[in-house]
Amino acid sequence: MFESRRPDQYIFPNPPCFIGFLAHQSPECGGLRPRGNRVQTHEGKPVVPDLNYLLSPKELVSRQMREEKKRQKSAVFWFTGLSGSGKSTIAHGVEHELFQQGFDAVVFDGDAIRHGLCGDLGFSAQDRLENIRRIAEVSRLFARNNIICLCAFISPLAEHRKMARQIIGDDYHEIYVSCSLEECERRDVKGFYQLAREGKIKNYTGVSAPYDAPTNPQLRIETDRQNVADSVRSVTEFVRTIIKI
Ligand code: ADX
Repeated sequence: MFESRRPDQYIFPNPPCFIGFLAHQSPECGGLRPRGNRVQTHEGKPVVPDLNYLLSPKELVSRQMREEKKRQKSAVFWFTGLSGSGKSTIAHGVEHELFQQGFDAVVFDGDAIRHGLCGDLGFSAQDRLENIRRIAEVSRLFARNNIICLCAFISPLAEHRKMARQIIGDDYHEIYVSCSLEECERRDVKGFYQLAREGKIKNYTGVSAPYDAPTNPQLRIETDRQNVADSVRSVTEFVRTIIKI
């Protein structure tokens, strides 16, 4: 058995040995060699195996096997809209509805994720891009493992959503939660719009930072015209068309 070491204390042996390691840590490979506390680099870049190479030898449970077992396809449903438009409320309603119907879905929501995974990020253009990049990567991994992801992030710029789509690929489905700024400000559930108007919160989306409305979402719901129950129903119906086996 190997001693327990952190991943950055190893370098990977050459490819055939690496496959051996993944199978049974064959002794002729010499296993993984400790390298102190440094990440092994080549020309300044971390040395990691190609992703396809890394996954293929050990993937004994395929996506298709999971789909057949759970009787659901997975995908990422990306809710974009102003703060207060109802993204999280609807995403949680859809999660609950799907749960009742026997499907596995999770909600990732801006306020929650910013307490943990993205707790080091603010609201500059650069930080928002990094926020979206991380959650897109996480939801891609979940979707590959047959979990339906309901991602509720303002993702204000077309460039943010384009990046999410590029990371997630064909599993990406954009839902525009449309609501006028006036209505979002009237609701002001968290009191942040008022603080933004008073200049106490900087770069607030819709007030002092831009929001590019999506031009071609797969679904648009208008929460200033439709109540929560109807919105949840419309989105759940849409989700069901994508996840059906
Ligand atoms: S995003 O722009 O990077 O996609 P995200 O969805 O994660 O934003 O977080 C939005 C939430 O953060 C808002 O609902 C609000 O509660 C809070 N927030 C705090 N500061 C700001 C700000 N400057 N702009 C927008 N939302 C903010």
